[in-house]
Amino acid sequence: MQQDNKKDNAGPQEELNLSVEEISKIEKELEIDKNTGIPMLEDESIESLNQHKIPNYLVDVYNWAYVKPKNIDLLDRPIVYHTILFGQGWKLMRAYLEEFSPTDRVLQVAHVYGNVVRLLAEKVAKNGSLDIIDVVPHQLKRAAIKLKGVEGEENIDMWLQDASEPYHKQYDVVGIYFLLHEVPDPLKKRIIENALKVIDETGGKIVFIDYYNPSYYNPVRQILRFINYTLEPFANAMWHREIKDFITKNRAGKYNWKQTTYFGGVYQKVVVTKKTDEELGEVPEDSSKE
Ligand SMILES: C[S@@+](CC[C@H](N)C(=O)[O-])C[C@H]1O[C@@H](n2cnc3c(N)ncnc32)[C@H](O)[C@@H]1O
Repeated sequence: MQQDNKKDNAGPQEELNLSVEEISKIEKELEIDKNTGIPMLEDESIESLNQHKIPNYLVDVYNWAYVKPKNIDLLDRPIVYHTILFGQGWKLMRAYLEEFSPTDRVLQVAHVYGNVVRLLAEKVAKNGSLDIIDVVPHQLKRAAIKLKGVEGEENIDMWLQDASEPYHKQYDVVGIYFLLHEVPDPLKKRIIENALKVIDETGGKIVFIDYYNPSYYNPVRQILRFINYTLEPFANAMWHREIKDFITKNRAGKYNWKQTTYFGGVYQKVVVTKKTDEELGEVPEDSSKE
């Protein structure tokens, strides 16, 4: 495990603070479906909307945070993002963004409040591509607002999809930013397995940023304990299990899981890549050929 002790003075520092007027101007420019309130995107999104259902755990536990459109508009601000991350938001965002190269084909699994998706799009959309999925229509609308006008907008696509359902395209990087701690454990497993299938095909990587296990001396530990107990019932599992422990040992053993922790163990980045034949101790079939 690596500890991150580097000073943070590099990287993006621009806040994407859109005024209410700017947001409503962009909203007017976006084609919004009058019945559903979501932006008109690719055909897929409209099709998937027909069978669309917001998962029960989101409605039961996170309705106030991720489902009610008014609350989403209120919470989707850089100041909220930075506050709930105890001022560590920039560091985590940089740790995330450094894993993507400009030509990568990227899948962002779930929208994130604040600037993350905009900065990711600025990095990859022009020369690579960016797909974003989320299971809540209004979250995609927020993403569409933030991404309006970004260079390479034509290479950005988004649609409604549950992260636990198979991804149908090939990607170089699958990014999963603070999603795992918000879903029940069986879903954590399915989301991880889905992403692994993608990297099996392309030899790419998965980048997770999420909560980890704060050290006993970290004052934030008690605050988060209380938050987990009252608001985030699926987050505690992140304290007691490594991300790879949500899937079978056999499966996990086929990959490298490179972990870096931040802020005294409160957060972690885990980068997953496929093990080479050598790392697996397997002899490639054609190894005898000259
Ligand atoms: C990725 S988490 C990010 C949380 C983080 N605290 C933040 O600052 O935004 C929240 C997003 O995950 C989405 N989400 C939750 N469960 C999902 C699922 N099963 N499939 C796809 N998206 C999901 C929610 O709709 C929401 O947009």
